[in-house]
Amino acid sequence: MGIYRDVILPRLCDLSMRNERLRPYRERVIGAAQGRVLEIGVGSGLNLPFYGPVVGEVLALEPSAGLVAMAREAPRSDLPVSFIDASAEAIPLDDKSVDTVVTTWTLCTIPDAAAALTEMRRVLRPGGKLLFVEHGLAPDRGVRWWQDTLTPVWRRISGGCHLNRPIRSMIECGGFRMERVETGYMQGPKPMTFMYEGSARPE
Ligand SMILES: C[S@@+](CC[C@H](N)C(=O)[O-])C[C@H]1O[C@@H](n2cnc3c(N)ncnc32)[C@H](O)[C@@H]1O
Repeated sequence: MGIYRDVILPRLCDLSMRNERLRPYRERVIGAAQGRVLEIGVGSGLNLPFYGPVVGEVLALEPSAGLVAMAREAPRSDLPVSFIDASAEAIPLDDKSVDTVVTTWTLCTIPDAAAALTEMRRVLRPGGKLLFVEHGLAPDRGVRWWQDTLTPVWRRISGGCHLNRPIRSMIECGGFRMERVETGYMQGPKPMTFMYEGSARPE
C-alpha cells in the first residue's frame, strides 16, 4: 500500500488532473479568487498558474507529501504560496482569516467532507467566498445507478474518490448560501463527469 499510496497514486492524480478539458473550469473558478486564498487539496499545483494579481497569497493545504513535492515545482507567477501539511477536516488557521476558499475536485475524496466544509466556513471571513468545481451525483437515474455501483471499487483504486456525492446539498449543509451553481456533464464517461461549478457565501 505504501508505494501505491505514496508514489503511484500522486502520479496518477497528477496525470488525470492534467486533462485539458478541466482547464476552462480552472480558469473560471480560480479567476474569481481574491485576497488571502486557502486552496484545499492543492494536489500537484495545477491551479497555481491561474491565480490573478488580485490574489495576495495562496495557502496551499495538501496532506499528500508526494503531491506537495510536485506542486512546489509547478509553474506559477510571483505569487507567494505557503504549503500547509494538513487535512481539510482540521485546518490549522484562525477563524475568519481568509478571503477565499478554493476547492477543485477534492470534496469527492476528502473522507469527512462535512467536517471539511465546516472548517472551510470557519476560516472564511464574513462576506468571503467559497469557489468550487467538483464532480458528483448526476441527476439521471441510470447514471446514478452506475455511480452507486462503481463507487465502492472506484474508491479503492482512486485514493478514496466517490462518484456519487451530492455536492450542492453538501455545501449548503456546511453552512453556505449558494451564490452561483452551474451543473452539467463534461465530455467523458457520464458517471465520472457530472460537474458542479460555482460560488457560495458563509451564511
Ligand atoms: C482529484 S485530486 C485534485 C487535486 C487538485 N485540487 C486539482 O484540481 O488538480 C484530490 C485532492 O484531494 C486531496 N485530499 C484528499 N484527502 C484530503 C483531505 N482530507 N484534506 C485535504 N485534501 C485532501 C488529495 O490529496 C488530492 O490532492
